[in-house]
Amino acid sequence: MYNPNEIKSFYNNYGEREWQRLELTPYDRINYYLHMDFLKDYIGEGKKVLDAGCGAGRFSIELAKLKNRVTLFDISTEQLRIAEDKLKENNLMAYVDGIINGDLADLSMLEDNTFDTVICYGAPLNYLLGNVEKAVRELVRVTKPGGQVLVSVNSKWGVIRTQLGREDFDYVSFFGKPNYWYIPEVVETGNLPKHELVSHPERHFFEAEELEDLLSTCGLENITLGGSPCISSGFRKAVNDIEKDKIAWETLLEIELKSYCKRTLADNGEFLLARGVKME
Ligand SMILES: C[S@@+](CC[C@H](N)C(=O)[O-])C[C@H]1O[C@@H](n2cnc3c(N)ncnc32)[C@H](O)[C@@H]1O
Repeated sequence: MYNPNEIKSFYNNYGEREWQRLELTPYDRINYYLHMDFLKDYIGEGKKVLDAGCGAGRFSIELAKLKNRVTLFDISTEQLRIAEDKLKENNLMAYVDGIINGDLADLSMLEDNTFDTVICYGAPLNYLLGNVEKAVRELVRVTKPGGQVLVSVNSKWGVIRTQLGREDFDYVSFFGKPNYWYIPEVVETGNLPKHELVSHPERHFFEAEELEDLLSTCGLENITLGGSPCISSGFRKAVNDIEKDKIAWETLLEIELKSYCKRTLADNGEFLLARGVKME
């Protein structure tokens, strides 16, 4: 059951940890690097950009630094407070058109055809459950014809793969108690119900084809898919070691860039990236 109050309260309590999510480790920084690369051709000075589900503003700040006109939108008042503080600390408020507290399923405060680019990164759509199509239709509605909508969601196969790469984790117990961890349910439906040992609200994990169909049903075309991280998805320890050597790190980043939009690898990434153009 979709419960916006539970999502709000989860992210209000999550606080500053959300700000650190994409910079704490080299592995996280690959995620940030690929998400920015996926976006780079659709942003720039003077563009009107909606950062939908902006969290602590990791992408909003970069967009403001690059002189886009940014509107921040999130269900969590605490995440918006952190984002605003960071924008103020960096003297970037001049690039902010609005900071809006609301639910992605209802963007009625925003007019049709307003933004050049709409970003919904870092898996907000995983929480929308039965309202996900409504939310994507809203993202498309507020985008100008010919503008881009870019999303990233947690991938069903990527998230399962990620469990194998966790350190200090009892994989045998995890895969050995499939029903307790709802593994068959996630594999069959993508749905992870509320679990006593998982702090997140209920989520739906996506497959690449499913996400592509959703975006296309909601009016986007020329859809591109990506996986993030791609080649190194799940390999946290290897990536952390590789970053210590400059050439090894640059080599890995180059391979990530070359591979992450290969269609056959999209489902492998912890995050599934997708972007499409709003029909003219
Ligand atoms: C993991 S954070 C991602 C933040 C940011 N986009 C990033 O990639 O760094 C997910 C954000 O989505 C927001 N969110 C989740 N469900 C939402 C909803 N229904 N409406 C608006 N925001 C939502 C959460 O409050 C949270 O700040």
